[in-house]
Amino acid sequence: MKIMNILLTGGAGYIGSHTALALLNAGHTPILLDNFSASDPKILTLLKAAAKKDILFYEGNVGNQTLIRQILKEHSVDVVMHFAAFKAVGESVKNPLAYYKNNVSEFVNLLSAMDAEKVRNLIFSSSCTVYGNPVRLPVSEDFSYGFNNPYGHTKVVCEQILESVCVSNKGWKVGKLRYFNPVGSHDSGYFGELPVGLPSNLMPYLDQVASGEVQKLYIFGGDYPTGDGTCIRDYVHISDLSEGHIASLEGLIKVGSHAVNLGTGIGYSVLEVVAEYERVTRKKIPYEIIGRRPGDVPAAFADPSMAFQVLGWKAKRSLGEMCLSSYSWRMQLPTLLSSCNLAPIGISPLE
Ligand SMILES: NC(=O)c1ccc[n+]([C@@H]2O[C@H](COP(=O)([O-])OP(=O)(O)OC[C@H]3O[C@@H](n4cnc5c(N)ncnc54)[C@H](O)[C@@H]3O)[C@@H](O)[C@H]2O)c1
Repeated sequence: MKIMNILLTGGAGYIGSHTALALLNAGHTPILLDNFSASDPKILTLLKAAAKKDILFYEGNVGNQTLIRQILKEHSVDVVMHFAAFKAVGESVKNPLAYYKNNVSEFVNLLSAMDAEKVRNLIFSSSCTVYGNPVRLPVSEDFSYGFNNPYGHTKVVCEQILESVCVSNKGWKVGKLRYFNPVGSHDSGYFGELPVGLPSNLMPYLDQVASGEVQKLYIFGGDYPTGDGTCIRDYVHISDLSEGHIASLEGLIKVGSHAVNLGTGIGYSVLEVVAEYERVTRKKIPYEIIGRRPGDVPAAFADPSMAFQVLGWKAKRSLGEMCLSSYSWRMQLPTLLSSCNLAPIGISPLE
């Protein structure tokens, strides 16, 4: 495969930074852009340490067309992977305008800058939220769009914008990757998610409880129409997910535009994840079930067969591996930070 220069917007975030490592591993050149609105600049030092090389980075807003055009030109960018967005469902319910501005308006600016520079290859971080509350399970790509919250709506709108853009100019090639629930850390053990503020996802929250930073896990809702009353999700290992981006990159060239689910096809309830986490880490996780969180759907898991048919991609890692990699990374993070001469991370004010 041709070696490519790839701009990763939101490259300092969880999925972007892991994908940067996967791209380096595959011989490509990642160029990262981030405004640190939802990430910690320390991640760059950790990323360079894990990659054992320098990494091109720009601090800035994805909607800054002048900056984007400059980067696209200067680095002869072949493909843009667009990760930069806000992603907390609950926050989007409270502050929808911030979500429409950041996830939609800034995205339109990015597309305009790409179009002006004739860089028309894009891999877009979409989400299973584009299916809303699915009518049946598992969820496949032919389901119609739906949304349950402003965050999900922004993903639907972005996908629809991309459809119009592709119709307007056949030169556009777009990979829409509908992630289910990415968790865990890099296989090397030397890189993982750097939590910022209050975790809104289950796994970083479990890590905080296991490490003793917070006393217990609050589970949102125990009265959903599921086996044990807690929400069911399809958790996918971050290394599988970043490999999905490499497959999508190859897919853009071989098959052109595509829209695929990236999930394992297996749904686990929150309580099942807690049990598996306790089993593999041998840590007791105290928890309390509280009220439902606005915007959450009871259950979602993928039919991942399309990603295999179109891209040859399939998730390989188990839930136990996901839990263990997440926990191990969290345990060794203080040592890694100090070996890189970085200040320790603060404890989130959860309780
Ligand atoms: N993590 C998940 O569970 C999940 C699931 C489905 C889809 N997604 C999507 O995947 C993408 C990446 O998610 P993530 O988990 O890595 O999130 P993240 O918050 O860890 O990373 C997003 C990064 O984008 C940056 N960013 C946000 N707005 C920006 C802007 N206007 N300009 C420049 N940088 C900006 C943030 O600082 C952050 O570093 C997002 O689009 C998200 O909606 C995530």
